[in-house]
Amino acid sequence: MKTKKKILTIFSIIGFLILAVSLSAFNVTPNLDEGYMPQPKWKNLKVLPQDITKDSLDNLMKGYTVALGVKCNYCHMPSKTDPTKLDFADDGKIEKEIARGMITMADDINEKYFKPYFPDPKPDQVYVVACIMCHRGAPNPEKYLSQMHMAYKTYNPDRDNRKEKEMEERQKQ
Ligand code: HEC
Ligand code: HEC
Repeated sequence: MKTKKKILTIFSIIGFLILAVSLSAFNVTPNLDEGYMPQPKWKNLKVLPQDITKDSLDNLMKGYTVALGVKCNYCHMPSKTDPTKLDFADDGKIEKEIARGMITMADDINEKYFKPYFPDPKPDQVYVVACIMCHRGAPNPEKYLSQMHMAYKTYNPDRDNRKEKEMEERQKQ
């Protein structure tokens, strides 16, 4: 009888130890910053900062799709190994190269002509002129802008069109 009790006690101690160890495993390294993710290694950034965070890059890219009314594949090539995916580092599309110039242009305009007069609280991210200001949901803004004068020619005469007439008069002068 006594040995049976001893064995039981030993087993329950072992059981307790296993439980204690497995519970503590959940708590060995307390995660101080839940949102922390290792910084991705960007492969082919030529104009954006090399240390840009994933969140910031994602937001920028989503912003471009909204501003131009396109999807990611408007600027990014399909992957050569898996064509159902995009290869974001590939420079095969001219649209990506044009976009690099547009990013630089918008940065320059902000840096030279806005920052001195409208400083942003975050000096490195002065953001006054953005893609959407010109593009307004279209990849080729000059195409619809060149149609703008047509809007005045086709106004509805029953509408209050004093403003349109005023502008037509001004254009004739
Ligand atoms: C208007 C064009 C355009 C659109 C649309 C666009 N991108 Fe980009 N993307 C770029 C350019 C330009 C770069 C390179 C920037 C540089 O050289 O610094 C880039 C770079 C990237 C990179 C970094 C690749 C690397 O490691 O070098 C990722 C990831 C990326 N884009 C994801 C996306 C996703 C996801 C979308 C859709 C939500 C998207 N892009 C839509 C133009 C675009
Ligand atoms: C100052 C106005 C302006 C701003 C700001 C601007 N763009 Fe553009 N963008 C244009 C015009 C105009 C064209 C069309 C040029 C043409 O086709 O003759 C164009 C063309 C493009 C094209 C090529 C489209 C095609 O398929 O032909 C891409 C890509 C592009 N812009 C991306 C961007 C991105 C990304 C930004 C923001 C970083 C941006 N643009 C900011 C005016 C602007």
